[in-house]
Amino acid sequence: MEIVRVDLGQRSYEVMIGIHLIEKVGELISHLGLGSSCALVTHERLFKLFGDSLIGSLKGSRKRVYPIFVPEGEHSKSFEWAERIYQVMLDSGLDRSSFVVALGGGVVGDLAGFVAGTYMRGIDLVQVPTTFLAQVDASLGGKTAINLAKGKNLVGVFHQPKLVLVDVATLEHLNPAEYRSGLGEVVKYGVIKDVELFEFLESHAEEIMKRDFERLQWVIHHSVSVKALVVSQDERESHLRAILNYGHTLGHALEAATRYGRYKHGEAISIGMMCAAWMAKERGFLKEEDFNRQTALLKKYGLPLSYKKPKPREVYSYLGSDKKKRQGVLTFVLPKKIGEVFLCRDVSEKAIMSALEKFHR
Ligand SMILES: NC(=O)c1ccc[n+]([C@@H]2O[C@H](COP(=O)([O-])OP(=O)(O)OC[C@H]3O[C@@H](n4cnc5c(N)ncnc54)[C@H](O)[C@@H]3O)[C@@H](O)[C@H]2O)c1
Ligand SMILES: [Zn+2]
Repeated sequence: MEIVRVDLGQRSYEVMIGIHLIEKVGELISHLGLGSSCALVTHERLFKLFGDSLIGSLKGSRKRVYPIFVPEGEHSKSFEWAERIYQVMLDSGLDRSSFVVALGGGVVGDLAGFVAGTYMRGIDLVQVPTTFLAQVDASLGGKTAINLAKGKNLVGVFHQPKLVLVDVATLEHLNPAEYRSGLGEVVKYGVIKDVELFEFLESHAEEIMKRDFERLQWVIHHSVSVKALVVSQDERESHLRAILNYGHTLGHALEAATRYGRYKHGEAISIGMMCAAWMAKERGFLKEEDFNRQTALLKKYGLPLSYKKPKPREVYSYLGSDKKKRQGVLTFVLPKKIGEVFLCRDVSEKAIMSALEKFHR
């Protein structure tokens, strides 16, 4: 097992990464001083896969567990579902000393995290992420959220978990598209801050594609370490945390322009990273050789390098509508080399449009 510490003073916590950890959750949380009852928020399908071992282990540590099922899909991140969870928690007699266990991907993590952050003004939270994306990203950093009709993640609180328990073996059941999507985020960590991770991804692609648990543990450990370091230094995203948005500025625009229906998140940011790296290369910040390495790696993992729909101008119209954009200049995270990025504050509309056109098929 690997342990990464997220350093946030009094709110510090550990991320434990290992194989078949779910069976040991009771023992692994024993030092945290959590209460004796918890709400286990998850999807029914995941409960069938992992519920027995999780509950068995928690009960072995004398915890009472109240499972609460939410439907799969983004629409569960709603006030309606938050309220239903509060209601079941109240009916079950869960109080301020109780805690929440979030077992699932980013949807469960964000929703259960929001509930934990607000129920009785905030109770303890344990994240047990089960998608690749949630294991390397969503479960870490303390951001929780629900959606409004007008947009995603518009309501939320910062609520750091007491522990994040990453059981790599859960990834065995993930469908290939979700798995690939997680890899997009992992490549991002390599490019922004960890050349060793990037090289490992280059040289162990076959095993990683086969979901070799040992290799995955290594990859997730490195990815989590990058995020933990960045979050520790900048919890509320004032400056450094922005580097985590590499590939996301255009990636998010592409997702929004296609109403989140066409590209998986990791696919959209793969295209976003292609555009950002190309802009960096055109401006002379990034060597062609490094640009080619990123292209080859994304391709190796089956991630898209270009997009067909919608048209470039439409993607552009979904970029942040702040003042800077109106003046025709935007801030982008651009790579300098593999393992290092910087915030470029003067990217012109022309440069963005030519990148969008370059990768439009
Ligand atoms: N809080 C943050 O910092 C943060 C960061 C990134 C993304 N997010 C949020 O995360 C959400 C997306 O998360 P996601 O990509 O994990 O999607 P998700 O939670 O919807 O999970 C995708 C699907 O995989 C299934 N699944 C989960 N684990 C599985 C497993 N081990 N085996 C088989 N199937 C499994 C789920 O039931 C679901 O149907 C978005 O709402 C996004 O806004 C939050
Ligand atoms: Zn992301």
